[in-house]
Amino acid sequence: MTTDNWTEIKAACEAALPADVVAYIQRYQGTAHSESQLIAILHMVQAAAGYLSKEQMNAVAQLAQIPLAKVTGVATFYHYFRLHPRGKHMINVCLGTACYVKGADKIGQRLMGDLGIQFGETTKDGLFSLESTRCLGTCGLAPVVMVDDQIHGPVTPGDIATLLDKYTKKEKVSKLPVQV
Ligand code: FES
Repeated sequence: MTTDNWTEIKAACEAALPADVVAYIQRYQGTAHSESQLIAILHMVQAAAGYLSKEQMNAVAQLAQIPLAKVTGVATFYHYFRLHPRGKHMINVCLGTACYVKGADKIGQRLMGDLGIQFGETTKDGLFSLESTRCLGTCGLAPVVMVDDQIHGPVTPGDIATLLDKYTKKEKVSKLPVQV
């Protein structure tokens, strides 16, 4: 943003955020509670957009009158906040104790290798995001991988290609033209 006109800055910031977030910020603007609402505000932004973009974090900082460093500091400190767009399918590798002792680290390594991304990243085609998580409550199936809301287990590194294929094929089928 190259203007220092507050009206223009404010309008651009409001346009970068959902209307309910703007209204929420306005409720606390300039009050002693402004900073204490930051996590709630970031949760609302992420719920609407799926992640926190630099533009949105800047808009929150400007409108809530909180230093940008504080906003980005909170966003990067909490594992829950995502700073990049989320893929269509979310893969969560359980690294809880039961899964870890049964080789969850090797599952993670295999997924990173096959997808070409690290934990916390999304594939270039936007199809998969890879995350790690703690106990999913299904230790009896360890080691466990959750794709979207579906639990898979026990999983071996050799199962990963088939697992990914299943979701990749699903995408290809859904893109086929409808036959009439
Ligand atoms: S430790 Fe992985 S499901 Fe419990």
